[in-house]
Amino acid sequence: MLESLEIIDQQVKKWMQEARIKIVSSLDSSLDVTTKSGPNDLVTNIDREVEEFYKTKILEFYPKSGIIGEESSHELDEPQRKKLLWVIDPIDGTMNFVKQKDHFASMIAIYQNGVGVRGYIYDLMQNKLYWGGPNIGVFCNNERLDPPCNQSLDKGLIGIGAPLLIGNYHNLQKAALESSGTRIYGCSGIQFIHVLNGQCAAYISYLRPWDYAAGKVLAETLGLVVKTIDGNPIDMLSSSDVLVATKNAQKDITRIVQSTY
Ligand code: IPD
Ligand code: CA
Ligand code: CA
Repeated sequence: MLESLEIIDQQVKKWMQEARIKIVSSLDSSLDVTTKSGPNDLVTNIDREVEEFYKTKILEFYPKSGIIGEESSHELDEPQRKKLLWVIDPIDGTMNFVKQKDHFASMIAIYQNGVGVRGYIYDLMQNKLYWGGPNIGVFCNNERLDPPCNQSLDKGLIGIGAPLLIGNYHNLQKAALESSGTRIYGCSGIQFIHVLNGQCAAYISYLRPWDYAAGKVLAETLGLVVKTIDGNPIDMLSSSDVLVATKNAQKDITRIVQSTY
């Protein structure tokens, strides 16, 4: 098992490096941008092409895989859930990709029988690939990450999805005020990286499976907590308000959230 995951690591890194070249070089050409659920929900030809590229590679080498991809395949039947399951977000932070040409990521996660075994988050403009899983630890390119220190909320920054903060859902404005400060980047992959690195004590946002699947594997491997905002385990195939945090920050945020009940 370990040996095959080692092979998968080599393959996925190669595919993601190839995707990075395609994505970064596309910044010099004109993108075909369309909207999905609303004016701020963008997709480009590059999102679609990269997702197809990943799916083609996965099915070439692992034809029995189940695949969830943001741009093409959301539904899985029960047997597929149990297989080698791949969760793909070809470009996370498409709005940043289009408007900022920075602060976006490409993400892949692998689950086996419902258990996360690998996460890969590629900060494409920094050329930093965060990858790993329960048996091997977490790396940034070739450098092993130490687990971040267990910051409490008042000693750390918090990332919050803008709609949750603006609407004060779950009393999150109080959490923001109790923290060292709030950061909003519009890319869940980058915000997960900040918590992995200890640059933020927590991140909370309404997320879909492809937004958090890779980050969840990496964060849990480093001893961070990844739960719904109510403290419940996350069902891998559903969307919810997801909190990733140090143990201490999670306790602080739970206290603040529950003070509204
Ligand atoms: C979005 C980003 C954003 C999060 C949204 C996601 P996309 O991903 O991760 O930070 O707040 O919920 O949809 O659509 O650019 O892949
Ligand atoms: Ca995306
Ligand atoms: Ca995303």
